[in-house]
Amino acid sequence: MTDDALSRRDVLKVSVLGAAALALPIERTVRAKSISQIAESRIPRPYTVPFAQPPVLAPVRQDATTDYYEITQAATVAQILPGVDTPLFAYNGTVPGPTIKVDQGRRTVVRQINALPAQHPVLGYTPWTSTHLHGSASRPEYDGYAGDISHPGQWKDYHYPNWQNARTLWYHDHGVHHTSENVYMGLAAQYHLHDALETSLGIPQGEFDVPLILGDAKFGADGSLLFDDNLHAGRYGDVILVNGRPWPIMRVKRRKYRFRILNGCTSRGFMLKLSNSHPVQIIGTDGGLMPAPQTVTQWRHGMAERYEVVIDFARYTPGTRVELRNLGVKNSVDYDNTNKVMAFQVVADAFDPANNTVPAQLYPDNPVMTLTAAQSSRTRRLRVKKDGEIWEIGDQTWQEIVDSGYRKTFAKPDLDAVEIWEIENSSGGWFHPVHLHLVDFKILSRNGRAPRPEELGPKDTVYVGEGETVKVLVHFGPESGRYMIHCHNLPHEDHDMMSQFEVGDDGPDPILTAPPRSLATNPPPPL
Ligand code: C2O
Ligand code: CU
Ligand code: CU
Repeated sequence: MTDDALSRRDVLKVSVLGAAALALPIERTVRAKSISQIAESRIPRPYTVPFAQPPVLAPVRQDATTDYYEITQAATVAQILPGVDTPLFAYNGTVPGPTIKVDQGRRTVVRQINALPAQHPVLGYTPWTSTHLHGSASRPEYDGYAGDISHPGQWKDYHYPNWQNARTLWYHDHGVHHTSENVYMGLAAQYHLHDALETSLGIPQGEFDVPLILGDAKFGADGSLLFDDNLHAGRYGDVILVNGRPWPIMRVKRRKYRFRILNGCTSRGFMLKLSNSHPVQIIGTDGGLMPAPQTVTQWRHGMAERYEVVIDFARYTPGTRVELRNLGVKNSVDYDNTNKVMAFQVVADAFDPANNTVPAQLYPDNPVMTLTAAQSSRTRRLRVKKDGEIWEIGDQTWQEIVDSGYRKTFAKPDLDAVEIWEIENSSGGWFHPVHLHLVDFKILSRNGRAPRPEELGPKDTVYVGEGETVKVLVHFGPESGRYMIHCHNLPHEDHDMMSQFEVGDDGPDPILTAPPRSLATNPPPPL
């Protein structure tokens, strides 16, 4: 065993140590060769499968104010590995689901129909769902609250305001206790909100504005997904997926591209870079455009975070191949090819030269980024930790929230309060991407030092690394009500690292206000 390598057996040892492992300062990246059980010959070599993007969803209807969409959640079988059938769950038949694109100021209504089987084909649980639009300041009853579940055979219309600034959002399942499995099965997709500032800046658009949803999977001998989450520590795959394809290769023209990169993995964090170590420009974070672009040669990308990255291929001669690589992060389990993500093959094709710049200023007036610590009215401390088999946040578990009739809260900021939240992870053995619903926030510091350059933009999820304390500045509003806060390592979230805060006093009830209906007895009216 070399210093940076642990055998498969050691990996198992680490996971079965459970609580004891928490005390171990694992100062290295755990590594093993592979973990899928399917014949190695069925797994394609990196950079042989053509890149593809999810389809863009067309509204079923539009009126003066609103775009109406309909999505059916159903089981499907798709070929992730060429020639191998894998059972999946899909939004409208595709994995990842279709991208929704909307202009600021238009409302959307997205009808979600749960047509999933009564039981998960392998795990046997009932695939109830709750759909969360991550990045949206939705009202509580449309926020995908974990207890607001639609069972198979039920439907619900979700209303989204879209008044926020341009950003990359994503919609994904949030059903209590089974978010991890449901998202891994395919219930995740991007949602792009556009605004006038964004389209006036000259940054890449249209064909050159490309969603990348990162995932990882491991396959059983029959091609089905394997689910082992190492006693809820984390679920890791040996096959890296981009938009549902293993290590794809994308043809790119000799100009700038804007990649909207979402880490959609269950538990894997990335440290991303180009294979030639050339710099890229980060222009957007979870909450949209940064005040100014940041030039970096690598960036750390935790689960659920979105980074919008501009790569300029103009400097490369046709035929050049540039890879997107993963250096790995502490406490993500690496396999032989998890250091590779995708490749770009530079081609000589003609291109539209419009919108091929990155200005020195992007969105300096973003109200979140102009907040100062002096405006805060109080500081709260929140610890993320493991207690036996159970993950806790703010000394609470979601079970305690459930047991309180969904009344208990971690914090009750006033509507429009500005607060500093200090999130502390004193473990050496885990990192936790902590997500607050409803709000965008500004990262003030990490262990007293400046945030990383890629974090100098509006955020809704923050990587709280091993032994780190991160301070964030949050303006609570504009909605009142109860909203979740949780770790976005999905087995942690499901078991039970999730709590809630309540903004103001009289927000709508997230479960009772707009309950799902039965397809059989309350069929949906036409949209
Ligand atoms: Cu992306 Cu509460 O989740
Ligand atoms: Cu969210
Ligand atoms: Cu966690």
